[in-house]
Amino acid sequence: MFSLVSSIQPPMVLHFLLVLLGLYLLIKTVTVLLEFSWRLTSSNNEVLPPSSGGFPLIGETLAFLAANNSREGLYDFVKTRRLRYGNCFRTRIFGETHVFVSSTGSAKAVMASDSVGFEKRYMRSIAELLGEQSLLCMSGELHDVLRHRLSGLFTAESLGSTIKHFDALVVEALKEWKEREAVFVLEEAMKITFNAICKMLISKERVEELEKMRKDVAEVTEAMLAFPLKLPWTRFYRGLKARKRVMDTLRNIIKFRRQRLDHPKDFLQSLLMKGESPFDAPLTDAKIQDNILTLIIAGQITTASAIAWMVKYLDENQEIQETVRAVNFPLKSKDPDTLLGLDVLSEMTFASKIVKETLRMASIVSWFPRVALRDCYIEGYRIMKGWIVNVDARSIHWDPTVHDEPTKFHPLRFNEDSTKPYSFLAFGTGGRTCLGMNLAKAMLTVFLHRLVTTYRWELIDKDSSLEKGALFPRLRSGCPIHVTPT
Ligand code: HEM
Repeated sequence: MFSLVSSIQPPMVLHFLLVLLGLYLLIKTVTVLLEFSWRLTSSNNEVLPPSSGGFPLIGETLAFLAANNSREGLYDFVKTRRLRYGNCFRTRIFGETHVFVSSTGSAKAVMASDSVGFEKRYMRSIAELLGEQSLLCMSGELHDVLRHRLSGLFTAESLGSTIKHFDALVVEALKEWKEREAVFVLEEAMKITFNAICKMLISKERVEELEKMRKDVAEVTEAMLAFPLKLPWTRFYRGLKARKRVMDTLRNIIKFRRQRLDHPKDFLQSLLMKGESPFDAPLTDAKIQDNILTLIIAGQITTASAIAWMVKYLDENQEIQETVRAVNFPLKSKDPDTLLGLDVLSEMTFASKIVKETLRMASIVSWFPRVALRDCYIEGYRIMKGWIVNVDARSIHWDPTVHDEPTKFHPLRFNEDSTKPYSFLAFGTGGRTCLGMNLAKAMLTVFLHRLVTTYRWELIDKDSSLEKGALFPRLRSGCPIHVTPT
């Protein structure tokens, strides 16, 4: 007996497969539609957030990917729908229902420490690149224990020494900027932040080793928003390969570290040892590796992108640039070898407001995804269990009812305690607040201080469009400047 498929001719096989595919798509579409209409009616005609719909099954995935590949950047997908539907809308991306909310009230409802109805959730492909044991991909108790362990590393002492190292790298880099026609701030900042963070985490300083790892980490990051297709020519596949190389390097460093008697004082060493509290067991090597990679990725591009935006905003706001130069000049030490400490940074109050205003305007992490653990209501709309609710920080930062004249670069808006609750979300809030917040702010302040007290600059390319496919909004131009000594 021949099977049905092998007894028919090749063109018929094709037809047969097409009919099967058609049937499959039809059944799937009907199922999704039925599920939707069931949900609509079963909730007593309660109103769901307005939705832009999109195609059956794929929803608006194509529009989302197109925005990611445009000069307006990924956020443009959210912005256009927010303008059309208001503070709360619904869409379907990569097979999941996403809701975007953009009021301070909904930010509180979703992100406050005591909000138990939501949990952070990243796409599975991101978890594959960062590692299953990454802090970013964990939730619940596992997250709390690991977060406690990692936050113990960000002491004032370690912050102080990392900042001194970062300062030394900035001073060194700035020295040769005057020789160049154009300095690409983003690229320079990427190198400096990477090297400073690697020194803090694993005491790596050898230039060639750092360069190799920096390229691998960049490939991992580039793969994070790519379509998760594991074929040799895809960006996702290349990212996984690069992750493997980073993991191998970290594994060797850990192995070598275990054999050594003289240990450098860094994050890795603290993680290899037992912590102070009884819950602080030594972490497994795999967990350490995943989290070192996570800290590098979470800290490097975010901080470097913010540095480039700050340089651009200060170029566009010369008066503010002159003011911070005048205020900071007296803090410049007579001794060129004196590196900045946390005490001096705490005196730079105007500079720290510039940093905050940069972070508000640039909104480097534009929205925060959380999965709804049960059915609930937000902004009067019904939210179903399993939907992903994204708090749209960028909209809140640019909302004229939250911040006066939001398009204006105005650092003094952060005078005293004038900001409203949940109005400044550059580092998130609640139980998932950025672990490197103080470090990032300090790095930005150091960079600002050194730049304004060493040089004046002219932005060569004033274009504000964004790099395609970037995980965070980054200037496509790379922020090229020409400097002249002050
Ligand atoms: C300007 C620079 C930075 C910005 C704008 C930024 C922003 C953020 C935001 C918004 C979150 C929370 C995301 C959410 O709630 O979904 C976050 C989390 C995190 N950040 Fe940062 N970050 C920066 C720098 C850093 C640095 C320098 C490090 C460490 C070296 C770091 C490590 C982390 C980690 C580990 C988390 C996850 C915390 C958790 O899930 O418990 N970040 N960051």
